[in-house]
Amino acid sequence: MQQRRKSVFGSAPYAMKQAALGAGVAARKNGTPLSMAAVVFFLFVFATFLYNEDIKSIADFPFSSGALRAKSPDLHLLQEAEAAAHQAVSTLARRGEQAVVRVLDDAPAATATATLLRPAANGSITGVLLVAKTNAAAVASAIAREEEGQEKDRDVTLPSVMGLGGGGAEEAKRREDEEAAERASTAKAAAATAALRSVVSVPETCDLYRGSWVYDEVNAPVYKETQCEFLTEQVTCMRNGRRDDSYQKWRWQPTDCDLPRFDARLLLERLRNKRLMFVGDSLNRNQWESMVCLVQSVIPKGHKTLTKFVNNGSSNIFYAHDYNATVEFYWAPFLVESNSDNPKVHSVPNRVIQWHSIAKHAKNWVGVDYLVFNTYIWWLNELSMKVLKGSFDEGATEYEEVDRPVAYSEVLKTWAKWVDRNIDPNRTTVFFMGMSPNHITPEAWGNQQGGIKCAMETQPISNRSATLDVGTDWRLYAGAQDVLQTFRRVPVHFVDITALSELRKDAHTSVHTLRQGKLLTPEQQADPRTYADCIHWCLPGLPDTWNEFLYARIVSRPWTTQA
Ligand SMILES: *[C@@H]1O[C@H](CO)[C@@H](O)[C@H](O)[C@H]1NC(C)=O
Ligand SMILES: *[C@@H]1O[C@H](CO)[C@@H](O)[C@H](O)[C@H]1NC(C)=O
Ligand SMILES: *[C@@H]1O[C@H](CO)[C@@H](O)[C@H](O)[C@H]1NC(C)=O
Ligand SMILES: *[C@@H]1O[C@H](CO)[C@@H](O)[C@H](O)[C@H]1NC(C)=O
Ligand SMILES: *[C@@H]1O[C@H](CO)[C@@H](O)[C@H](O)[C@H]1NC(C)=O
Repeated sequence: MQQRRKSVFGSAPYAMKQAALGAGVAARKNGTPLSMAAVVFFLFVFATFLYNEDIKSIADFPFSSGALRAKSPDLHLLQEAEAAAHQAVSTLARRGEQAVVRVLDDAPAATATATLLRPAANGSITGVLLVAKTNAAAVASAIAREEEGQEKDRDVTLPSVMGLGGGGAEEAKRREDEEAAERASTAKAAAATAALRSVVSVPETCDLYRGSWVYDEVNAPVYKETQCEFLTEQVTCMRNGRRDDSYQKWRWQPTDCDLPRFDARLLLERLRNKRLMFVGDSLNRNQWESMVCLVQSVIPKGHKTLTKFVNNGSSNIFYAHDYNATVEFYWAPFLVESNSDNPKVHSVPNRVIQWHSIAKHAKNWVGVDYLVFNTYIWWLNELSMKVLKGSFDEGATEYEEVDRPVAYSEVLKTWAKWVDRNIDPNRTTVFFMGMSPNHITPEAWGNQQGGIKCAMETQPISNRSATLDVGTDWRLYAGAQDVLQTFRRVPVHFVDITALSELRKDAHTSVHTLRQGKLLTPEQQADPRTYADCIHWCLPGLPDTWNEFLYARIVSRPWTTQA
């Protein structure tokens, strides 16, 4: 096993640069306190925003903290939202004003932007409008714009509201000093931004996917399980009782170059005013969660929001307020339409696809800046795939059975055609994730006795032989390669994670996870043959490396002038 440590990882100048950048950003923050109105407004929207799913049931309801006590599965969000709402409400009450929350479910984005809360000239806040579901990203950015607008107004309105009065030599001097400080910190911030707009060098010719796993406690993991509040219980293996944490400490070392160290600020700068969207199945959601954790560490509390929409194909949206950037997940396990498109109600053993229909999903991908697709695991439960004759919309139920690889290629062709016709390659970067392997057969890695699926595994496979066969359907891999080669207009990056992930039998969630929404009981944990999940991965863990490949490709591209 290769054990060399690269000095570029965690070198001192690098750390110093990061510290300097952090200071620059902090200075700018201190220079511009929000006005009272902006703060109240923000708390308000923040509370409402978090509550999007539940709050639609109290549309047109007078705003009170009681109204917020809707049922919520997430205690943490509940507390945070309630605290924010309480503060907003009591501030308003102190000023003898009242606020009303109006939530229009599924109104178009334009409506949201136009009617968002505006404080009246006398400083009172009269309402908040929130739009659910499909337009959360647009609403979030409108909120950010609204906040900026209010900050600009501050100088004009606040002095009289606060009774500070105008004029006076002292006042003028104080203002001048403030403005000079402001200019200095703006310059500093500009310099920091310029540094963040650097291009990371990753040789285009280097095969990032050829290499080995190196045990590296210094540089891995990139974040800690306890430090990412956004992780779901499905993937927090340590919290769920896993004892060994060595699965977090393997770093992928390409043979011919280095994978750049993940720098959340650099990536966020690339994502400024942009959207990054993962589209696919629960493994892509696994990777989306990893990406959220990777970027969120550098964003202070209150400047990031995670919104989840249940029972609607679309979206889990992480929003980085200061960057106006989103990291989103869109559920479409076959990419094309299927009878499994409801993200919650989909334990359908009888999986049927409509292999030439993609528009219903794809309309949600238009205009996204970085698209990351996958589809694989849902294909595996039967040797053939059921292909609908006709359309779900017209109530068709008849289907024909088609060989798995044939159907897979056909679906990818449908997808490729859409990409080629609808993606502007000057704006959007497209990735296709290779197949994420399962580890259900210990015999495959020479664990003849004592192995039960992936449950007893604490080490990657170190003995790499050409004959390693963990059951991956390489025919689908080959099919994907073929289709990807047909792209002419839009280049698609194939993220070739399959072989390197096959080595990671140690990295699955196994019995340290949920089943049907509930943590496995000790009895269930003791029965891995029935309950071990050897499909999904713990976080921090393997999907972080997959995201490092995306990172490498994103930050090594030149900045375009329009960006
Ligand atoms: C502020 O103005 C709004 C209308 O613009 C009015 O309804 C409200 O009563 C005013 N509030 C106060 C405290 O004067
Ligand atoms: C915020 O991001 C969205 C989505 O990428 C974009 O459409 C919008 O123009 C951005 N807002 C600003 C103020 O740049
Ligand atoms: C999500 O909800 C909207 C509005 O209710 C609906 O138009 C859309 O089809 C839904 N999307 C999916 C994938 O179910
Ligand atoms: C992308 O940009 C280049 C250079 O600006 C231009 O020549 C090309 O036509 C653009 N491609 C598309 C598909 O818009
Ligand atoms: C390496 O793998 C081969 C074939 O799978 C097996 O025969 C051999 O015993 C393994 N060696 C070790 C050290 O595990």
